[in-house]
Amino acid sequence: MRQVYVSDLNTYTLVDAPDPVIERPSDVIVKVTTTTVCGSDAHILAGHMHTPWGFPLGHEFVGVVHQVGAAVSNFSPGDRVVAPAAPWCGTCPACRRGQIQRCERGGIFGSGAAYGGLGGGHAEYVRVPWADSCLSRIPDGVSDAQALTVGDILTTGWTAVRNAVTAPGKTLLVFGVGPVGLCAVHTARLYGVASVIAVDTVTERLNLAKALGADHVIDPSRQEVVAAVAELTGGRGAEAVVDAAGVQATVSAWEPVAAIGARIAMVGIPAAPVELNLTAMLEKNITLWTGLGDLGQMNTLLALIESGKLDPSPIFTETVPFDNIENAIGEFVNRKHGLVKPLVQVS
Ligand SMILES: NC(=O)c1ccc[n+]([C@@H]2O[C@H](COP(=O)([O-])OP(=O)(O)OC[C@H]3O[C@@H](n4cnc5c(N)ncnc54)[C@H](O)[C@@H]3O)[C@@H](O)[C@H]2O)c1
Ligand SMILES: [Zn+2]
Ligand SMILES: [Zn+2]
Repeated sequence: MRQVYVSDLNTYTLVDAPDPVIERPSDVIVKVTTTTVCGSDAHILAGHMHTPWGFPLGHEFVGVVHQVGAAVSNFSPGDRVVAPAAPWCGTCPACRRGQIQRCERGGIFGSGAAYGGLGGGHAEYVRVPWADSCLSRIPDGVSDAQALTVGDILTTGWTAVRNAVTAPGKTLLVFGVGPVGLCAVHTARLYGVASVIAVDTVTERLNLAKALGADHVIDPSRQEVVAAVAELTGGRGAEAVVDAAGVQATVSAWEPVAAIGARIAMVGIPAAPVELNLTAMLEKNITLWTGLGDLGQMNTLLALIESGKLDPSPIFTETVPFDNIENAIGEFVNRKHGLVKPLVQVS
């Protein structure tokens, strides 16, 4: 088969590799139909995630079950499935406590030895461990593009909103409307927010945020964010804040834009340590939540898409064939004008 392999800093190639095989009875081999590039791939390639070089890339993929291990009971060859970015075993002490993000055996697909040494989703086939625990079947009415968001970005954006919005009627501000922030904007409708403000420096992303549910947009390169938020909120500030950019400029703006008693959910991964004015946050009774997307809820999100309550597919702004994936990764990492997220068709 072919897969994207990362050999060094910012160095990746589409190479031939042996097909993955069933290694444990709980494994499933997925024939990938669609994959995509993530902001986290950009972090990995830039060396921010401290994993030794030499591993396949990609953690967001959907496909069809190709082979099942002897102990797999929930899946059969031919089933359409979406994998979580980070699989979990379901039986270790952390999983039994419900803390699947910290599964003692788990890891992140396509992220190298520091994250479990798993296969990568930018490939024609992937071995998915503990399939009965962590793989999701895609309902018939849900497209590959829609399902592809559920393994990471939609679940992460939604998890952030769930942790930031405590009650209906609040104003939610989202910093960074890349794919993850756009998913936060889009899922805010599930929580009865009164108003959604999206902040980003890229005009096309702000336009997409409006299409996916933002009421107001602010471009910090054209407008002073704190003053604009004060004007939009009658001086109160935002009661709920999601940060899906994870840069010093947005972290520094949290407290000034937040209302007294606000909740902030941080899902952007800072490339380096950031400074935070905790004293100012304490004086405004601000609660900070950080974390990974709640991938245990992938089936919930698939059901919300199936019922028509969510449609994140506009986030894919172009479709490219697998032969062009190296180019698609380069364009994503270098922020090609107009590109938000590419849908890569593998088979
Ligand atoms: N916590 C999790 O479970 C989880 C899961 C997936 C991704 N992530 C992380 O979330 C972040 C976003 O991922 P993405 O795929 O959407 O990436 P992305 O890089 O496309 O999105 C980041 C957005 O932030 C914007 N931005 C940058 N500086 C800004 C500023 N000063 N003010 C406002 N906006 C600014 C960028 O223009 C961009 O649109 C990444 O750090 C990624 O690694 C976290
Ligand atoms: Zn991702
Ligand atoms: Zn586990």
